[in-house]
Amino acid sequence: MREIKMKALVEQVHFHNEKVIHYPDSLEWIGQGRSAVAFRHYETGRVVKVFYPSYRTVATVEADVYTRLSTHELFPEVYEAGDGYIVLEYVTGRTLYDCLVEGVPITEEMIHEVDRALGFARSQGLNPSDTHLKNIMLTEDGRIKVIDVARFFQEEECPHWDDLKKAYYTYYQRPYFPKKYPRLFIECVIQLYRRRLLPI
Ligand SMILES: Nc1ncnc2c1ncn2[C@@H]1O[C@H](COP(=O)(O)OP(=O)(O)OP(=O)(O)O)[C@@H](O)[C@H]1O
Ligand SMILES: [Mg+2]
Repeated sequence: MREIKMKALVEQVHFHNEKVIHYPDSLEWIGQGRSAVAFRHYETGRVVKVFYPSYRTVATVEADVYTRLSTHELFPEVYEAGDGYIVLEYVTGRTLYDCLVEGVPITEEMIHEVDRALGFARSQGLNPSDTHLKNIMLTEDGRIKVIDVARFFQEEECPHWDDLKKAYYTYYQRPYFPKKYPRLFIECVIQLYRRRLLPI
């Protein structure tokens, strides 16, 4: 019953290329990435991740990854997978990206928790990939959740998390290093990193 309802709602999400141009009132826009838009469904409190038309097939891939991980406390639960969308547990909190913007300290314990999550994924035969600041959340009660696992099936090694850890230990942990940054500054650093222009 609920599945049919979510499907009907997802059909009301309209895209123009990778831009959402319309979505139903029963959904709240909560975030956007390179392959999908995340909404919160007011009635159930759950997240509906709706993939852009060109990424629709990723929904089943991500759902498959989640079925291997979802029982672990460091990943959100997945409730449902449909045509071009998945329904997930809503994680209350902020991404590590938001932590940098708001000046919420990122502790070594949080880094270890991400390592533990990725270690568990490896133990399930997966290859953790694309683990970056917007894909890791800090919950309101201080726990870590890795929220975006779509690329965990890829074979190619992904350096993102190792590079972030290097930056954390080399720069962030230094006492005089600022813990809060303007969004624009972080976006510039991300662009430089993507172009391999950072000494990491
Ligand atoms: N379960 C969740 N609970 C709370 N917020 C979420 C959840 N899932 C996604 N979000 C929010 O939506 C944003 C986009 O979701 P997600 O990272 O899954 O999309 P994506 O397109 O796969 O991202 P990427 O660009 O990393 O591939 C996240 O950065 C986060 O802010
Ligand atoms: Mg993401």
